[in-house]
Amino acid sequence: MIKKKLTYILAMDENNLIGSNNNLPWHLPADLKYFKEKTLNKTILMGRKTCESLPFVLPDRRNIVLTRNINFSRQHFEIIHKLDSINDLDNEIMVIGGAMIYKILMPYANKLLITKIHHQFNGDTHFEWNEKDWRLTDRIEKKADEKNKYNYSYLTYIRTNKK
Ligand SMILES: NC(=O)c1ccc[n+]([C@@H]2O[C@H](COP(=O)([O-])OP(=O)(O)OC[C@H]3O[C@@H](n4cnc5c(N)ncnc54)[C@H](OP(=O)(O)O)[C@@H]3O)[C@@H](O)[C@H]2O)c1
Repeated sequence: MIKKKLTYILAMDENNLIGSNNNLPWHLPADLKYFKEKTLNKTILMGRKTCESLPFVLPDRRNIVLTRNINFSRQHFEIIHKLDSINDLDNEIMVIGGAMIYKILMPYANKLLITKIHHQFNGDTHFEWNEKDWRLTDRIEKKADEKNKYNYSYLTYIRTNKK
């Protein structure tokens, strides 16, 4: 049982795609900026594969990595091995992926911050969710520009069902 407030943050395409070859399938600098704004000075939780997809620790955030590998370590990342250890962390945690971590913690998630990219990409990793368990509370539409090639929306969801 996880007793913390978990907010998911993720970007996905029109088909719930979130990853390709342990990387993001797109280049969307505006979303990276949004991600930074929403996670700065917070505790972020990620799976080991997402950790390995990052070039370095995300600065000004407490970076927590979940892995079953007791030998895994990386400079400036804090490692945990059990889901229960999440209860020893801060009260509010931003869950930053990837697919496996989103899936196993889904029963405990309170809020979703989704950047929906209005395009279809190729890839291998999808976000699994049941949209009818969630209520859309905010939607900000963004148009493509010279730096961001696709239209996209910032969506905020809260749960409709009891956990
Ligand atoms: N679009 C987005 O917003 C977004 C965000 C994040 C990631 N991504 C993408 O998602 C992909 C990675 O996702 P993924 O699903 O392959 O991997 P992941 O969720 O990042 O990491 C999976 C790993 O987490 C560890 N883990 C999972 N459950 C555990 C448990 N109960 N206890 C302990 N450790 C556990 C395991 O590590 P060990 O194998 O070491 O035990 C497992 O292999 C990449 O393509 C990445 O770029 C996209």
